[in-house]
Formats: sequence, structure tokens, C-alpha cells
Amino acid sequence: MKAVVKLGGGLFKRDPDVEALRTMGKALSTFAGEGNQLVTVAGGGQNARVYIDAARKLGADESTCDLIGIGLTRANAELLRLALGGVGVPNIPTHLSELNHLVGVGKVVVLGGLQPGQSTNAVAALAAEITRADFLVNATDVSGVYTADPKKDPKAKLLRSVSVEKLLSWAFAGDVYAGKYELLDPVALKIMQRARIPTRFVSLEDPSNITSALRGRDIGTLVSYT
Ligand SMILES: Nc1ncnc2c1ncn2[C@@H]1O[C@H](COP(=O)(O)OP(=O)(O)OP(=O)(O)O)[C@@H](O)[C@H]1O
Ligand SMILES: [Mg+2]
Repeated sequence: MKAVVKLGGGLFKRDPDVEALRTMGKALSTFAGEGNQLVTVAGGGQNARVYIDAARKLGADESTCDLIGIGLTRANAELLRLALGGVGVPNIPTHLSELNHLVGVGKVVVLGGLQPGQSTNAVAALAAEITRADFLVNATDVSGVYTADPKKDPKAKLLRSVSVEKLLSWAFAGDVYAGKYELLDPVALKIMQRARIPTRFVSLEDPSNITSALRGRDIGTLVSYT
């Protein structure tokens, strides 16, 4: 199968967790080794947020903050690429147009951010669209999409499925700042919607959640399209 996996900032701690990266690398390289094509996208995590906050305090505009964040996502992508060992392709692409030259069965391409104004969730959606992926897994620091932000509302309930329209209505209600794209930004959702990319949100705490989702297990939250 052809898959895209977005690995959220939860994997890329302030002090990188080498063991967590190694375990994730092993799980993903095993999946690729089973005859699958895989593109992974590294999120920004805490380090990107810290740098963006510092730049903003120093007077940077939002595009500059985004560019700084992109630099950090690429540093995260390099760590992930190393954790993948031999199956990780040597270069982190900086343009979407490079992707189809790099993908292949048994290989894993690692991307960071590409352009200001969009999150790495949008990069993952674009990567899924251009590679005609069968499946996109968005792995984050919570178990899926909830009725409200589970970090703020203890009564929030995990949704087993959610429509892209519902996610869009939430995304449009929020602010769009560098480093503040939470669960999904409107750009990411619009691309998922136009390409109707089968997508599931899962927790990245255990890498087997990701590989199980890729193998078709009903875990986390499935996005539906009407
Ligand atoms: N309805 C919701 N369901 C689930 N999570 C939500 C919801 N609303 C807001 N969130 C927040 O979104 C967070 C996940 O987005 P966040 O941008 O922090 O992580 P990420 O996208 O995995 O990482 P990065 O942006 O660094 O790549 C969750 O930790 C949660 O607090
Ligand atoms: Mg995010």
C-alpha cells in the first residue's frame, strides 16, 4: 500500500527521546519492509514552539515565525530519518514536486514543513494527494479527535469518526498563527476534503497504533467524507 504518516510534535521532545525515536523508526521501517511505500512528515513539537515564541518576542512577522518553525521541523525530520536506518531516503525534500521521484516500495521518505502559512498536517495531506496514498495516519499526542480539546475539557469524549465538514467548522473558528495550528488547520482539511484522503487520527505514544491503523484496524478517529 501507499501510505503517509504525520508524526506530531509529541515524538520530538525538548530533549529528544532517542529510544522513542528508535522504536518508532523500527516500527515504520518494518511496515515499509512488508512491501509498502511510506512518506512520513515530522511535526514541529516543543522546540519549534519555543523558537517561534522567541522570534515573535523579537518582533518577527508570522511568515518569519513559520520559516523558523519549518527549520525546526526539518531538524526533527533528520532525527527521524536517522532512526529509520537504511530504509530512510538520504534527503529531506524541500518541495512537493520532489516527492514522486523519491517514493518507492520499501523506502521511507521523511518530510518536514514546506511553506509558511500551512502546518505539517497540510504537508501530510498534500503528500498523500500527490503520491495518491491509500491512507493517511495523523499520529498526535492524544488518542484521536474528541468532542472538545481533551487537555482543557476533562469531559471531552473520543469520537470514533468525524466528518471533514465538522473538523473544518472547528478549524475556521480558531486562530491561525505560526506554531499554533492545533489538531488541524483549514488548509490541511481542505486538501483532505478535495482529495478525499482516507485518514485516521491515532496516538503516537505506542508506534503499534500507527502500524495497526495502516493495517486497517479501527482505532482512534476515522475522518468521513460526504
Ligand atoms: N477536539 C480536539 N480533539 C483532540 N485534540 C484537540 C482538540 N482540540 C484541540 N486539540 C489539541 O490538539 C493537540 C494536538 O495538536 P498539536 O498541534 O499540539 O500536536 P501535533 O499536531 O501532533 O504536533 P505538531 O503541531 O508539533 O506537529 C492535542 O494535544 C489537543 O490538546
Ligand atoms: Mg499541530
